[in-house]
Amino acid sequence: MDMQRVPAREGNYNLKNYDELRSTFKWEDVHKHFSWNETGKVNIAYEAIDRHAENPEKKDKVALLYSAPGREESLTFSDISKKSNQFANVLKKYDVQKGDRVFLFMPRSPEFYVSFFGILKTGAIAGPLFEAFMEQAVRDRLQDSEARVLITTPDLLERVPQEDLPDLEKIILVGNRSEPSDKYIDFYEEMEVASESFDIEWVDLEDGMLIHYTSGSTGKPKGVYHVHNAMIQHYVTGQWVLDLKDDDVYWCTADPGWVTGTSYGVFAPWLNGVTNVIRGGRFTPEDWYSTLDKHNVTVWYTAPTALRMLVSAGEGLVKKYDFSSLRHVLSVGEPLNPEVVTWGLKAFDLRIHDTWWMTETGAQLIVNLPSEEIRPGSMGKPIPGIEASIVDNEGNEIPPNQMGNLAIKAGWPSMMRAIWNNPSKYDSYFINGWYVSGDSAYRDEDGYFWFQGRLDDVINTSGERVGPFEVESKLIEHPAVAEAGVIGKPDPQRGEIIKAFITLNPGYQESDELLEDIRQFVKTGLSAHAAPREIEVRDSIPKTRSGKIMRRLLKSWELGLPTGDTSTLES
Ligand code: WT7
Repeated sequence: MDMQRVPAREGNYNLKNYDELRSTFKWEDVHKHFSWNETGKVNIAYEAIDRHAENPEKKDKVALLYSAPGREESLTFSDISKKSNQFANVLKKYDVQKGDRVFLFMPRSPEFYVSFFGILKTGAIAGPLFEAFMEQAVRDRLQDSEARVLITTPDLLERVPQEDLPDLEKIILVGNRSEPSDKYIDFYEEMEVASESFDIEWVDLEDGMLIHYTSGSTGKPKGVYHVHNAMIQHYVTGQWVLDLKDDDVYWCTADPGWVTGTSYGVFAPWLNGVTNVIRGGRFTPEDWYSTLDKHNVTVWYTAPTALRMLVSAGEGLVKKYDFSSLRHVLSVGEPLNPEVVTWGLKAFDLRIHDTWWMTETGAQLIVNLPSEEIRPGSMGKPIPGIEASIVDNEGNEIPPNQMGNLAIKAGWPSMMRAIWNNPSKYDSYFINGWYVSGDSAYRDEDGYFWFQGRLDDVINTSGERVGPFEVESKLIEHPAVAEAGVIGKPDPQRGEIIKAFITLNPGYQESDELLEDIRQFVKTGLSAHAAPREIEVRDSIPKTRSGKIMRRLLKSWELGLPTGDTSTLES
């Protein structure tokens, strides 16, 4: 069935003729917008914050419009500039050097954003951790990155297994803690006495800036390493894709523990000098709507799961709020169902623009632009400067309308530059000059890309990426669990839910209480979003002769599909 196409609407978009731009654009063209073009000095924190703080017309503009249950606050560009200078001074006092890893493990708050830019100003590499992570997830990431300093809250401290983290020298606590110690530093006390001026560490475009951990199908989470150069793409996609203009009020719903929450929750809006709404906590449909209404949000970047929840909340709720300021809506993270696009036309009288990218790609690559036709169900077309294609397993391009590996010609500004501590893993992403995404897709005759699924076992639940191996490893730490295989099971609301197949150790009997206990064990040990919603006890878990769990087979069983070639199955 050919879904109805949604033509572009008349509008005062930043740019209109993308087809022309696709043939003429060069990434170097963007450099002239930044100060390094004249000074040769670079730091993304300068371009996103200090540059505006130095500009008399911008310095008192609200940069951060923060709201969470019980707290409302706004900071101007000048405020963030000074406070991040103070924090950079605190870090210097404790000898943080360029290239050191400084991690953040805390809820979205003004302190988070101040600390984040303070880290970048010292030339250190920031590592934001999602606040819902539990001990195992925190341990894996801090160990692998060899973080020297962690910024966290007293509440979250108990999830930081300090005895297993020999490299962690200092913990900066946002909030009070009574026992004094050499290791703990009080954020507020130090900020009070720190100077508001700081000599920013000028770095090279290719110097390290950020590490986001993400999950693959095997092994521990991987540290995806990004450099300051990424700002070129954050900036330009902020203009083209988010269509940001000076008077916009922008809201990105993602947490900065994930890449959307940094690339588009921090960098794209602030590199473009735009007011950025940050809302703390998890949301309900009422929260979403009232945040849009209350702050007169004009540009909104969110995710399909959120939108599907709004669809389920019904039309009655929509009518209670005023969305007249809203002019541009975008989505990322999972397939955006055509039904949701159709709903958006009714509920907001706006098109919802799907965008495709990954932690590894650092910024948007394939998108629906405001001035181009939308084909509901399609992720859109590559932005200017990006060559995308469908390739076979040898990296040869294949013709339109045939499924294959979604691949990008390597070498765009925001591309990851390494997997931390794992060069061979990094190399494995590239075949014949193409970055191979792990997604399958096809391209139609007009160059629109259509997502088909993941080619590996990575699970996407409510837009959050979960590696089955991490969940399996946690499951088998439970005394009752002998073996575990974990898959994503399709779910109408969350895209996928996590389903675990387990075998029990001798002496354990299946019961609802036991299964709930196992679920809680993963939830409290790893993280809530990684806890299996369904657990099925079996007599055995299918494995290959070399002992690898056959998740594909588990999935086929679950979906009632033909099981295909099982010749490698262990007897
Ligand atoms: C995976 C990357 C960086 C964005 C947040 C997720 C899936 C992402 C779409 C989309 C269908 C999508 C892919 C991709 N994905 N965007 N528009 N349509 N699937 O980043 O956690 O690194 O996950 O999310 O499978 O590979 P991530």
